[in-house]
Amino acid sequence: MKKNKILIEVIIPQSEQARKVDELMWQILWEPLGLSKEIQNDFNLDGYEMILAIKDQDQFVGGLIAYQTSTDSYELRHIGIRQDYRACGLGTKMLVKLETIVRSQGIANLHAIARNASRPFFEKNGFVSSGEYLDHPDFLEHEITFVKMQKGLMPNSA
Ligand SMILES: CC(C)(COP(=O)(O)OP(=O)(O)OC[C@H]1O[C@@H](n2cnc3c(N)ncnc32)[C@H](O)[C@@H]1OP(=O)(O)O)[C@@H](O)C(=O)NCCC(=O)NCCS
Repeated sequence: MKKNKILIEVIIPQSEQARKVDELMWQILWEPLGLSKEIQNDFNLDGYEMILAIKDQDQFVGGLIAYQTSTDSYELRHIGIRQDYRACGLGTKMLVKLETIVRSQGIANLHAIARNASRPFFEKNGFVSSGEYLDHPDFLEHEITFVKMQKGLMPNSA
């Protein structure tokens, strides 16, 4: 990783910056599997969208997209760090920023749908499996399955 100052930014949904984060998410999560850009639409949710991004100089190198799914919960829908910036704590930093914002809104629950390969990342960050597994044919052929995970953000939440 380069040694420039790394910044986490909150991105305005529907903006040009948001489009760039979408592009990065596609490059990290779906392009390597040979999936089309349209697949991104399959994963959109209704609800307030929260976008965070990591910028190094003028380039986005990581992104996170979450939605408020109820008055008491958010769902982390996508998280990705560019390959050459991984394993330096940036994914964790972005997650902690999301948790801080969500908690400050009085919201107690964070859900995520984790790829099997990234499950250890979520577990290290305090998520637990709900035991509900999901699959999608386009991902199964790459041996990618999903598990629903959750984290309580308040002292008395699960
Ligand atoms: C998953 C991802 C966002 C993690 O970001 P990151 O910046 O590399 O993670 P961090 O450096 O903050 O890692 C935090 C901890 O999780 C662990 N971890 C991270 N990714 C992991 C993985 N794929 N498998 C096992 N452990 C992992 C790290 O080893 C680290 O543990 P440590 O503190 O004991 O060293 C990143 O690896 C990524 O973009 N992966 C590809 C896309 C993806 O799978 N996204 C998730 C889809 S649900």
